[in-house]
Order: sequence, then C-alpha cells, then structure tokens
Amino acid sequence: MNKKSAVILALVSFALLGFTGVNKYFIITDDDVALKVPKGFPKPHYKFKNNKPSPEIFVLGRKLFYDPILSKDSTISCASCHQRIAAFGHIDHALSHGINGLIGKRNVPALQNLIWKDAFMWDGGVNHLEVQPLSPITNPIEMNESIAHVIEKLKHNKQYAEEFRTAFGDTAITSERVLKSLAQFTGLMISANSRYDKVLRGEDTFSVAENSGLELFREKCASCHEEPLFTDNSYRNNGLKPDSSLKDRGRSAITGDQFDDYKFQVPSLRNIELTYPYMHDGRFRKLKNVVDYYSNPQNFSASAAKEMYEIGTLTEQNKKDLLAFLLTLSDKSFIYDRRFVDPFVQ
Ligand code: HEC
Ligand code: HEC
Repeated sequence: MNKKSAVILALVSFALLGFTGVNKYFIITDDDVALKVPKGFPKPHYKFKNNKPSPEIFVLGRKLFYDPILSKDSTISCASCHQRIAAFGHIDHALSHGINGLIGKRNVPALQNLIWKDAFMWDGGVNHLEVQPLSPITNPIEMNESIAHVIEKLKHNKQYAEEFRTAFGDTAITSERVLKSLAQFTGLMISANSRYDKVLRGEDTFSVAENSGLELFREKCASCHEEPLFTDNSYRNNGLKPDSSLKDRGRSAITGDQFDDYKFQVPSLRNIELTYPYMHDGRFRKLKNVVDYYSNPQNFSASAAKEMYEIGTLTEQNKKDLLAFLLTLSDKSFIYDRRFVDPFVQ
C-alpha cells in the first residue's frame, strides 16, 4: 500500500469509528477464537472441553485479564505482570512485582502455547489452565484477593452483569465462569509464526549463522528444549547454583522428593529475545549471559542433569551462531496480534 492510500484508509477507519461508536479493532469473530493447531505441533493437552471458545467469552476473559479489579486494592491486573510486548512476561524485572510494591520470588514467565502444557509454574505446582488464575489472585504478594470477593465486586459492576449475560446467556457471575473465560483468553495465546516457523514451512530461509545455530541447538539443547514447543515440559536441573537469599528448591517443593531439588520446568524458548531477564529467578539480564553460562561446564553445579555435560565447551563462533538462531524464535505477529491488545485503551 502506498502512503496516500494508507492515509485515506486511516481517515475512512476513523470516520467509521465515529459512526458506529465501536472500535472495530477490538471486535472478535468466530474465526478469531477457532482453535487452529499449527502444523507440526502435537495435540493440545487442554482441549477446551466444556469450555468451547466463543467470541463473547473470549472478550470477557480479555477484559478480566486486563482489569485490576481482580486485585484487593484494584491496582494489579494479570497484565501488570504479564505484558504483551514481552510475550506476556515482565520486561526488565528479574522477580515479579505484586500488590503494595511487594517483590515475589520468581521471574514472570511468558504466556504462550499454554494448552500444550500439562502443568504450570516453574515447579509445575498447578496442573489445570482453568485453576491457574486462583494462584495469583489469592497470593498475598501478587493480587492478595479472595475469589469470593472478586465475584462480589464483579456483581456490583453493571457492565460486567451485561457482559456475563452476553457471554453465558444469563447474568450469573460465578468463579467457574471467571476462570473459564480467562482460560479461553490465555489458552488461545498461540505463538507459531516466528521466522523459525516460516523457514520450516518453506516461506523463508536462514542465514549461514542461523543455520549452524539450529544445528548446534538440535545437538546440544533440544534434549530439553524440544521442538516445536522448545520445551519437553519436564523438570530438570540445568546446573544453576542456588541463590541462598531465595531458597527456592523448585520441583521438590511440590513432590516432596529430594531427588527433585533444584529442578525447574524447562521453559519454552519461543520469543526468548523479548522475555528477559532469564531463568526462574531472572539472574541473567541478557541472552548472551545465558549462552555464556551454557558454554562452560565449569559453571554448572555438581547436581546438574547429565545432558548439561553433553553440551561441552562452546566456542565464540558457536555462541554467536546459537544466539543468531535463538533470535529467529521472535514472533511479532503474536505480540502485535490485535486479539490480545488491552481493551481498556480503546
Ligand atoms: C504479581 C505478578 C503476577 C500477576 C498479577 C499474575 N501473574 Fe501469572 N505468573 C507470575 C509469576 C511470577 C508466575 C510464575 C510463578 C511460579 O512459578 O511460582 C506466573 C505464572 C503464570 C502462568 C503459568 C505459565 C507457565 O507457563 O507455567 C499463567 C498461565 C499465569 N501466570 C496467568 C496469570 C493470570 C491469568 C493472571 C491474572 C489472574 C496472572 N497470571 C497474574 C506473576 C504474576
Ligand atoms: C538438561 C536440560 C537442558 C538443556 C540441555 C538445556 N537447557 Fe536451557 N533450560 C533448562 C531449564 C530447566 C531452564 C530453566 C532453569 C531455571 O530457571 O532454573 C532453562 C533455561 C534456559 C533459558 C532461559 C529461559 C527463560 O525463559 O528464562 C534459555 C535462554 C536456555 N535455557 C537456553 C538453552 C540453550 C541455548 C541450550 C543449549 C546450549 C540449553 N538451554 C540447554 C534446561 C536445559
């Protein structure tokens, strides 16, 4: 499109907005909520059973995700910590920041491709997408609210009564409906259109460096960060020396098994460029720091998984190539997807 027609299109759009009073940008259609499993992806774990996506329920879930009403003092929304421009991680914050400026003990993970996960959180402590929001809502250092009180507040809000009716057919506001609509919104956050995906689909090609990065990745990293999701959803110890101030033992806090000490769920590496800082405690600011860490086995703790020692020493060239490859996992069409934009800005 040339400049002139772009200007005309913009003017026409504004005129239309003025006439209808509805910002078309935020309108969600049946097609927008249809589950499209990307080619080459496995079958999803969460199948939207008894929670069939509809535009109205999705829109309600989107509003709840962006609404600080879910927190005790109406200051913190899901989106305060899960920022769209960071693939729904939290840009530049090593540890999460919750209500009253309280600092949590873990880094905010990206939200993407959640329906392929059988468990959530760095330690896999939550095993159902529909139950997951209860954790931040009730956590005293995140939103510090009770679900009963959230429901009370929503019931006193005329707009929500109308929106629940549009979504579910009647005005009943229940925790089940809140959780199901949030699961529709977060469950449809699917990232599968990075340059990596385009190359696999034959729509793009890699540079020499990216190609050799992919080869190195498949040889040294993919045993844990398995394609195409870039995680095998397992819990592993990648050798990080424990931070004595956080005392986070990871998976063993859930299983009670010492064997699981310092294991964390393998994070996906999709959109990794955007989700800094890195690791469960955000200890590495830059992707380069992460690759430097992996490049030398002497950095690893004695209890690191054996696959860590199979990586071997990485040369400067290896590191450059790996970095080049990791950058191909950024998916602009995901973070700029209009379906996920904050509806309160309209
Ligand atoms: C105060 C910051 C904060 C707020 C507010 C918050 N989260 Fe999170 N979220 C986190 C952190 C930190 C984790 C990782 C927690 C852990 O591993 O113990 C997380 C994990 C998750 C996960 C699991 C992701 C994965 O791949 O395992 C989902 C899903 C999620 N949050 C959704 C939500 C929703 C929905 C809301 C709103 C109801 C919300 N979060 C509010 C910080 C926050
Ligand atoms: C033994 C399994 C394993 C192998 C092999 C492995 N990783 Fe990881 N990786 C993990 C785990 C587990 C974490 C999370 C650790 C934590 O936070 O405590 C992680 C974290 C990361 C992160 C940070 C992700 C984030 O969102 O914070 C990056 C980047 C990364 N790995 C890249 C690589 C690269 C590149 C390789 C190959 C050179 C590699 N990994 C090999 C298990 C592995």
